[in-house]
Amino acid sequence: MLIADSLIKVNLKTMCGIVAYIGQREAYPVILKGLKRLEYRGYDSAGVALLNNGLKVYRKKGKVAELEESLMGVDLHAHIGIGHTRWATHGEPSDRNAHPHQSNNGKLAMIHNGIIENYAQLKNELQKKGYEFKSDTDTEVLLNFIEDIQMNNHCGLEEAVRIALKRITGAYVIVLIDQDNPDTLIAARKGSPLVIGVGKGEHFLASDASPIIEYTKEVVYVNDYELAILRPDELILKNLGNEKITPFVQKLDLELAAIEKGGYEHFMLKEIFEQSDTIYDCLRGRLDAIAGKITMSGVEKYIEQLKNANRILIVACGTSWHAGLVAEYIIEELCRIPVEVEYASEFRYRNPIVHKGDVIIAISQSGETADTLVAIEKAKEQGAIIFGILNVVGSSIARTSHAGAYTHAGHEIGVASTKAFTAQLVVLTMVALKLAHDKGTIDQLRYMHLINELHEIPDKVSTILRSSEKIRLIAEKYKDARDFLYLGRGYNFPIALEGALKLKEISYIHAEGYPAAEMKHGPIALVDENLPVIFVATKDAYHEKIISNMQEIKARKGIVIAVISEGDDVITQMADDVMIVPDADEIVAPMLSVIPLQLLSYYIGLAKGLDVDKPRNLAKSVTVE
Ligand code: F6R
Repeated sequence: MLIADSLIKVNLKTMCGIVAYIGQREAYPVILKGLKRLEYRGYDSAGVALLNNGLKVYRKKGKVAELEESLMGVDLHAHIGIGHTRWATHGEPSDRNAHPHQSNNGKLAMIHNGIIENYAQLKNELQKKGYEFKSDTDTEVLLNFIEDIQMNNHCGLEEAVRIALKRITGAYVIVLIDQDNPDTLIAARKGSPLVIGVGKGEHFLASDASPIIEYTKEVVYVNDYELAILRPDELILKNLGNEKITPFVQKLDLELAAIEKGGYEHFMLKEIFEQSDTIYDCLRGRLDAIAGKITMSGVEKYIEQLKNANRILIVACGTSWHAGLVAEYIIEELCRIPVEVEYASEFRYRNPIVHKGDVIIAISQSGETADTLVAIEKAKEQGAIIFGILNVVGSSIARTSHAGAYTHAGHEIGVASTKAFTAQLVVLTMVALKLAHDKGTIDQLRYMHLINELHEIPDKVSTILRSSEKIRLIAEKYKDARDFLYLGRGYNFPIALEGALKLKEISYIHAEGYPAAEMKHGPIALVDENLPVIFVATKDAYHEKIISNMQEIKARKGIVIAVISEGDDVITQMADDVMIVPDADEIVAPMLSVIPLQLLSYYIGLAKGLDVDKPRNLAKSVTVE
């Protein structure tokens, strides 16, 4: 298990956000504010259910603000309630598919985050008994299944939930309220996150700690297969065998300021601008540039296995997968260990060959990505050592890993990952350097040089950020392009992929990332005077080669925009526009060259009037397969 360096920070991730409250306060404002904080997890519809002289349920397609507006003037007085912001899995985004759902007898309301895999069979059984369904969701099926058990077994809600959960397969966090028990909230978790905030005479429930932080810093993380029964003055945790479990109350190490925008227009911009600090935080206490020492307890614990690994497999998704690709180049170069980088979603479904003692590096911001989690569980069963590189302390992947290192990038709220990516690169580079040093595959001079290069990254990031206005003007110039091509070689090839991914996510412009030399084998057919081609072309061993690739684009009238090292007059002359980053060793250059591309995507999205923090169809972390 990966242990937190100090205090448990915060558990944040997953599609759909849930919030619930029971206590003396007005429940609705607490829930509404919490839902707004959780909107980065899904925002296609929202709803609340409140108990006050009966059960009242309100649901609305669209963002939380639309729900709020629709409830203006409605009497929402209640001291107990549940709320949900949705990322659709079963059923299109609509009022009727929004949560909370109500059971057939109208007495129960439930919110759910996850997927019930055997819902179709249960729905069939219930329909035969006369149950009617008002939505297309698996959630409504589970809720009516619970109601049915309650009625047939003449038992309380808690018992009915327990029986139901033993029959279902899939992942869930559920929270229920019952009109006949207006002083109790019942919740359960398997595979999706759930945090309880413990206040004085009140309890809060949420998908992560952000809705709770301003009311209490005492939290309990609910584990898989646990059931929580909450009353204003009482918190009972049980397993599905009905045995009580002593709640482990932890202190949150998260300040409210960390989850607010701090004067920036968007979280994404705030997070891009935080990167000199987050990289500094990531290096702090680990990299001693004077003594030439890297301290990483997770690596030290498994140093023999890591440095003697026959091969390293990296599993990850999306942006984290791109960090893995950079790491492949770095680890092979510095440590001379073969590395394979796998999409977790592919790895888990084929029959991969994993040998006892293979090292798997799992990279994940959220630590909750379902495909990555299952991939490492499978590899662990086959005897692999799992090393997690994660941002969220105490997350599911952290708990499944044997060892690892946190990225310490802080709470990342913008749906497009930025600061978590650069922190992943920093951690991976430190791991590689430490292993190489221990293994003797790097000479002292190069080792000290790279340590120093890492040490200088935060200042160099600040320098790039000061040129953001120039990048904004470039964004304005090209915002109407229909397609973009991103090209890079060597360490910068994965940055071309990452740049293209950021642009797709934020601006909905089609963009492709390619190895610059591979362009000749197909994508060059796309080049004409309307195609902006972004070269990630900082000074490295491939510099001359990438200049040739640029010439090939220019010869076909393509538009060349390049990320270059300062003082690169050759490319400055050749390119239509340049984005300059400070000079750096090629091994650390990706930490810098990605930043102009993050800014470019942000400013193009902004210029197009899009919601950059909540791009359509996306959610912050993907806990569905
Ligand atoms: C892209 C992005 C996603 C994530 C991917 C993996 O901006 O955020 O591609 O990188 O869903 O998520 P984690 O790192 O949480 O496993």
